[in-house]
Amino acid sequence: MNAAAPIFPRPVDLHERALQAVAQMRADAQGQGGQLPVASYRSPEQFAQEMQMLRQHPQAVAASSELAQPGSWLSLTRLGTPLLLVRQADGSVRAFLNVCRHRGARVVAEGAGDQARAFSCPYHAWTYQTDGALRGVPQAEGFADLCKQDMGLRRLACHEAAGLIWVLLDPQLSEQNTTTQLGPMMQDLCALAGMQQPVGYAPRSYEVAANWKLLVDGVFEAYHFKIAHQKTIAAMFAGNVQLVDECGPHRRLYLIKANFALEQPAPDAFEPRQYGNLTYFFFPTNTVLVQPDHAQFSCLEPISPERTRIHEITLLPQTPATEKAEKYWQANVDLYRRTLAEDYALAESIQQGLASGANEHFTFASFEYSIGRFHAQLQQSLKDSN
Ligand code: FES
Ligand SMILES: [Fe+2]
Repeated sequence: MNAAAPIFPRPVDLHERALQAVAQMRADAQGQGGQLPVASYRSPEQFAQEMQMLRQHPQAVAASSELAQPGSWLSLTRLGTPLLLVRQADGSVRAFLNVCRHRGARVVAEGAGDQARAFSCPYHAWTYQTDGALRGVPQAEGFADLCKQDMGLRRLACHEAAGLIWVLLDPQLSEQNTTTQLGPMMQDLCALAGMQQPVGYAPRSYEVAANWKLLVDGVFEAYHFKIAHQKTIAAMFAGNVQLVDECGPHRRLYLIKANFALEQPAPDAFEPRQYGNLTYFFFPTNTVLVQPDHAQFSCLEPISPERTRIHEITLLPQTPATEKAEKYWQANVDLYRRTLAEDYALAESIQQGLASGANEHFTFASFEYSIGRFHAQLQQSLKDSN
């Protein structure tokens, strides 16, 4: 996507489209059904290309609220890359490769803190300021040609939006790349009530024994809802009616709730978040599910062709201040986790069957077209980045 990309399509006509969809029990945009080779979920070659490609797309690696004040820092690892995030004196966040410029040791061990003054490498004590500049070199006389100005920690493009810190792992890419890639769909998300500066809550990371794309595929169709989610949220939704808007490689999905079909609200009484789930998918691994009064973020970190680490953060309007509030949000988090567990158990079962030879291809219906679109965009992206 570039700066001249069209504004996010049809942002305000969900009501009209939802009415039509419910009347016909069919979403407005239906595409081509088709087939996808199952090898794409197992291939080590494709996986290696995907890892390269993922470094060139923004991923949210933490909640903004995790870096509460100047001097707050976070050291973590994503896609095998050691990262250091630091809140600066001016309130902005900088992201660095957490790799010493002397001989490459990890400068800051994994963890977090609130009052960093400087970071000292555990190998020979080269010391970096919180803005990344190289400050101290013990026995500097031994480095005849060292230009300290050029030897600060390598910065990565970093951008805060929707209460999350988005980073590009490829040090060749600039900040401009981050905002441009997130594009107008991020503006659309941030314009929702409570989504400008939500607070991170109940973060957790865990692993699933499935290829990361199987976890993405499940977001793009509502066909499975009434069956796979019958013990959790199926009754809340109208059926197989999900409205999809594309924005470059991203998507906004609107899954219509049963109360919309029942109440048929007038346009001025239509509040999209009360009558459906709004999901913002930022290509290729970030998903923000917007609920009526909060949101759930998840990012997929592929580990191997058969394994994925999932990072989740709940985004709340404010930190819960009472036990009652804590209970309320925890109940929401629990339901979200139970629902995702249903999806991910199925993804694991699919992964286990991939090698059996039962399928050379998976077959997609017209109302599952978004899965095929995603895989086509992924293939294009792999070509562009490798
Ligand atoms: S590797 Fe960091 S000071 Fe030597
Ligand atoms: Fe699902």
